[in-house]
Order: sequence, then structure tokens, then C-alpha cells
Amino acid sequence: MNGYLAISIRGTGRALPSRVLTNADFEKMVDTSDEWIRTRTGILERRIVSDGQSTLTLAVDAARDALADAGMAATDLDLIICATITPEYPFPATACFMQEQLGVPDIPAYDISAACSGFVYALISAAHFIHHGTYRNVLVVGAECMSRFTDYTDRGTCILFGDGAGAAVIGPAEREDQGMYYCHMGADGKGAATILCPGGGARTPASRETVDQRLHSLKMNGREVYKFAVTKMQQVIHDAMVAQGLAADDIAMIIPHQSNLRIIESAREKLGLPAEKVFVNIDRYGNMSGASVPVALDEVRKSGVVGAGQWVLLVAFGAGLTWASALIRT
Ligand code: ACO
Repeated sequence: MNGYLAISIRGTGRALPSRVLTNADFEKMVDTSDEWIRTRTGILERRIVSDGQSTLTLAVDAARDALADAGMAATDLDLIICATITPEYPFPATACFMQEQLGVPDIPAYDISAACSGFVYALISAAHFIHHGTYRNVLVVGAECMSRFTDYTDRGTCILFGDGAGAAVIGPAEREDQGMYYCHMGADGKGAATILCPGGGARTPASRETVDQRLHSLKMNGREVYKFAVTKMQQVIHDAMVAQGLAADDIAMIIPHQSNLRIIESAREKLGLPAEKVFVNIDRYGNMSGASVPVALDEVRKSGVVGAGQWVLLVAFGAGLTWASALIRT
């Protein structure tokens, strides 16, 4: 999708649980090693919720942080979109609980389920609403409690995931050059079964058997997803840069979904991008699905490496299979 959307990022925030799960912790849980995890994924540690924390608590904390950063009150919001595949309950939407906790009655609130691409999907939706004047200030959140949907006996998946939430308050552009200049969303349902939580839905409702068979946690064909991701990440970055006629030097920062350092590095090397222009925090947080991009966005903004008028490219892919990108001039 090409076409300018007149928006600005007013504020960003994040919430990360304080509890840390290291690779050494996994060595005691499953047949793995720090060396295998580091070299195959780039992950050193991830954050995991404690009792009393959940997708909702992280989402609300990140939202409050973003509102404070924007210098806005929750009552300034016109819409809340929460991207999550680990919702507080199967229904209703986690965003509705957020709306209640933030104290903004009556404004619309809904969830988007697009896994690791969820925040970028939500951001693109918000940008269209704002550009066309439907809503003015939109809270976009990516929040996940992956640990509650992880099988800690499956070494092929459990070492990958972490919990967290990131948020952004999006509003109309404040300068003429500010905005989302290019965005793209895609999905390939043929790959829907490659990353799946098989139990607990309408097809296979929860039962004693589904619990015994560990069907309430994420199952993934890692090799298939890897092949898809390594091609898609590179293609999506390339397409966004070509669409806007940008070279590597023109972009201040690419913020990719953090699923595997090898996937990020492969795309970076094939596109000839310097390491300092591709943001990485997977070593500290693992893969937080829909929370990875907004947490990274918040870290980038608050580190001050991206100034006003510079280009930032958000890129994500994940279960669905889905992918998305958004090229923003800050
Ligand atoms: N420790 C040690 N050995 C392991 C581990 C582990 N934690 N996990 C798997 N292995 C073994 C396998 O059993 C296999 O052994 P074998 O050769 O004897 O059969 C060997 O390591 C290689 O397994 P692969 O699956 O081929 O390992 P790979 O190098 O592909 O790495 C990984 C696995 C990290 C999961 C990788 O495939 C990957 O990152 N895939 C993409 C994941 C992703 O991007 N997901 C995206 C979205 S998630 C979402 O949307 C919610």
C-alpha cells in the first residue's frame, strides 16, 4: 500500500516484567545449552511474568508510560487497539479491559490477532483512522504473555519466548513532512498451521485430554517458519525502501521483529545494511511476538538516536503467516 498518511508518534512506552529467565535456567529445565541457544537464536535472556501479572497488566503499564511520554491524559484518547495473541481471556477483547482500567468510558476498543505482525497491523489501521479524521488520538499496544502459552518441556520453542508490552500514542501529523509514507500488510493462510495453539478454541475446546496432550501451548515448525521469515524479512525491507526511493544511508533505523538474530542478520547482510541501522534487543528479551516491535520502538525513541524528520522502518512477520511494514518519518 503506497500513499501518505498524515500521522505522528506522540509518545511511546513499554512494560517488561522484572523476572529474568536466562539460558542457564533452561539448561536445568530441558536438554539444551547456553551455547546452542546463543548461536542458533541470539537470545541470552528473556523476561517472564510473575503471579498477578498478565497481558492486561503489562498492556496497561505500557499504555500509561506512552501517555506520560506524550504528555497526554487517557481521556484524550479516541480509540484503543491492542495487538495480542495471548489475550487476557478468549473473549472479550483485552482492549476493553484496558479501556476500563485507563478510565476512558465509551471509546471504541478492540484487539487485533496477527501475532508478531500485530503491532504493525494495528499501527497501520490507526494511521488510516487518523489520516481520514475518524479518530484523533489512538493508543496502539502490543502486549503478550507468551510464557502462559509456552510448553516448557518443548526445547524447540520454550527457549524462544518472553513476555512484555509496548505502546504508542498516535495522532495527526504536527509538521508537513511527518507521517507514514508507505505501509504494507500481507498474510498467507496456507501457512496457518506452521505456528498454532491447537487447543482451547472452537475446533478443540478445552478438556482433560487437551490439557494432558499439552494442546494449550504454541506448536511451531521452526524450520518452515525460518525459511519463510528469512526470505520475507529481506523482501519486505527492500520493497519499503524501493517504494519510497530510499537508500540505506537515508534510513535512521530499521526496527525488525525480534524472532531470531540469524534471521535479522541474514536480511541485513543481503541488503548491505550497516549493523548500527538495524535495531536488536532479542538478546535481552527473546521473541515477545506482538510486543517486540513496540518495545524496540520505545527503546529507539528514548535512546535519542532518531531525531525529528528522520526515517524509521518497522518490519514484522509471524504466525498466520502474516507480515507487515510501516515506513515513518518522525
Ligand atoms: N537445544 C538444543 N537442541 C535443540 C533445541 C534446543 N533448545 N531445539 C531444537 N534442537 C535440536 C533439534 O532437535 C534438532 O536436532 P536433530 O538435528 O537431532 O533433529 C537440531 O537442534 C536442529 O533443529 P532445527 O529446528 O533445525 O534448528 P534451527 O537451527 O532451525 O533452530 C529455531 C530452531 C531457533 C526455532 C529456528 O528454526 C527459528 O528461529 N525458526 C523461526 C522461529 C520464528 O521466527 N518464529 C516467528 C514467529 S513466532 C510467533 O509468531 C508467535
